[in-house]
Amino acid sequence: MAKIVGGIGCSHVPAVGAASDHNKTQSGYWQPLFDALPAARKWIDDLAPDVIVLVYNDHASAFSMQLIPTFAIGTAPVFKPADEGYGPREIPDVYGHPALAWHIIESCIYDEFDLTIANEMDVDHGCTVPLTVFFAEPEAWPVKVIPLCVNVIQYPPPTANRCFKLGQAIRKAVESFPEDLRVVVAGTGGMSHQLQGERAGVVNTEFDINYLNNLSGNNDINRYMSHVEYIREAGSEGIEMVMWQIMRGAMEDKIVEKFRKYHVASSNTAFGIICFENA
Ligand code: DHB
Ligand code: FE
Repeated sequence: MAKIVGGIGCSHVPAVGAASDHNKTQSGYWQPLFDALPAARKWIDDLAPDVIVLVYNDHASAFSMQLIPTFAIGTAPVFKPADEGYGPREIPDVYGHPALAWHIIESCIYDEFDLTIANEMDVDHGCTVPLTVFFAEPEAWPVKVIPLCVNVIQYPPPTANRCFKLGQAIRKAVESFPEDLRVVVAGTGGMSHQLQGERAGVVNTEFDINYLNNLSGNNDINRYMSHVEYIREAGSEGIEMVMWQIMRGAMEDKIVEKFRKYHVASSNTAFGIICFENA
């Protein structure tokens, strides 16, 4: 049977992808962050996942304001990097796992979660930057990826608790898939940042550190915080962090932290990555 072997929370700052793509990782600005990543990459490599369920948000690349699914799952065999205005990133295509994606869709339906089915979808920095963080610059991504897209762009986004419960449903789905697959669930986005409006530039380090600590210890604080509180504390784009709750819900109650890096500033955000295994 398939099983969940790890969970990752990770920021998706587009400038991190650009730094990697344009050989800037050893510049004074980026070195402190990129020098920390080999340890995370080794942990992922040792974990040897076959599939990553990559929870991310689209930034009006695949979807527009005309159509905003709250939760959409990609069933395609392959997803192309999206053109976000500068041409698509020159990175490998992202290969999916249609059989597991369809199984998750069906299992979630029986768990009262009706996911929007995306049979064709380009994936933007929300999905591809975490892949760069996890795997650097390979010829081909070493895992299959099931993109699970969450609306955190247009109010109202789903609550953190709703996301947590979807994570639980995804765990049930994965654990009932008959093939022996090693699956990692990644929740991406965040950490605190606000790109727009009067509060543009918000970074709340205290909130972020507490959020990271709570994930393994007292996640109920993160889980039951309203989405309005997320926005107030972490900024209008910090709401992306509700997606980490899907990862947390997919993991068991007791988890062990294997890696963490928190770095301010990365572009306009606090960058965070945290890695867990079930205890
Ligand atoms: C930035 C962060 C994001 O999460 C994003 O989607 C776009 C830009 C930034 O920090 O610049
Ligand atoms: Fe974002």
